[in-house]
Amino acid sequence: MIVANWKMNGSKEEVDSWLRFVSSNLSPNIDNLCIFCPPSCYLDYSSSLIKEISSPVQLGSQNINFSGNSALTGGISSQMLKDLSAEHVLIGHSEQRQYFNEDNDSLKSKITDALTKDISPIFCIGEPQEIKTDNRTKDYLCRQLEILESFDSNLITIAYEPIWAIGSGENADNSYIEEVHSHIKEFCCRELNFKEKVSVVYGGSVKLENCEEILSSSEVDGLLIGGASLDPDTFSKIYNLS
Ligand code: PGA
Repeated sequence: MIVANWKMNGSKEEVDSWLRFVSSNLSPNIDNLCIFCPPSCYLDYSSSLIKEISSPVQLGSQNINFSGNSALTGGISSQMLKDLSAEHVLIGHSEQRQYFNEDNDSLKSKITDALTKDISPIFCIGEPQEIKTDNRTKDYLCRQLEILESFDSNLITIAYEPIWAIGSGENADNSYIEEVHSHIKEFCCRELNFKEKVSVVYGGSVKLENCEEILSSSEVDGLLIGGASLDPDTFSKIYNLS
């Protein structure tokens, strides 16, 4: 799974040219999903264009709000995402956790909501620099993963994004990524009773120059790409190398 996370970037025109370029330059592989997460206001346009040009790209949302309360100004429900044929949703991205004070309870509600409409959550976890420095990464990630207990593991993908690597230009090194991914998989099997081995994708300063090395580990099941996904040529090349 290779995911483009545009964050709060782009315009309708850029969405249009990106989708057209990527769709015609991708060598699609059904075992390796290509997912586009534009800003919410471009989901509708992206969805129509994906259908119009029969694009192999699947649509993902950067956000969802749990619909326990429908009087939520600015909210986006799972039903709305379903209407737009979004098949995936990012949940728990560190920027959302930080700026919107997302806690484990609200994240759990979001996952529940997405799953009721068969939208696959890409659940993001990752440690800040000080936790890494204190050698407490594994425990920290376990606390974030605990909310996944009782969910159907087949529908959930985990994105490991160390916060210190996001947008910094410094990706985590391969041995670190490998160790953390294998810890996540083991924890999900042992403590959360996941029946299948969960897929874990890596995010944090992925670029064309480092993508092959990161993907060379059998513990890495894909990539979540921010900055480097904005350029359609770079993104297509990364996908085609994966
Ligand atoms: P980055 O962002 O690739 O720009 O580091 C990744 C992300 O936050 O999903």
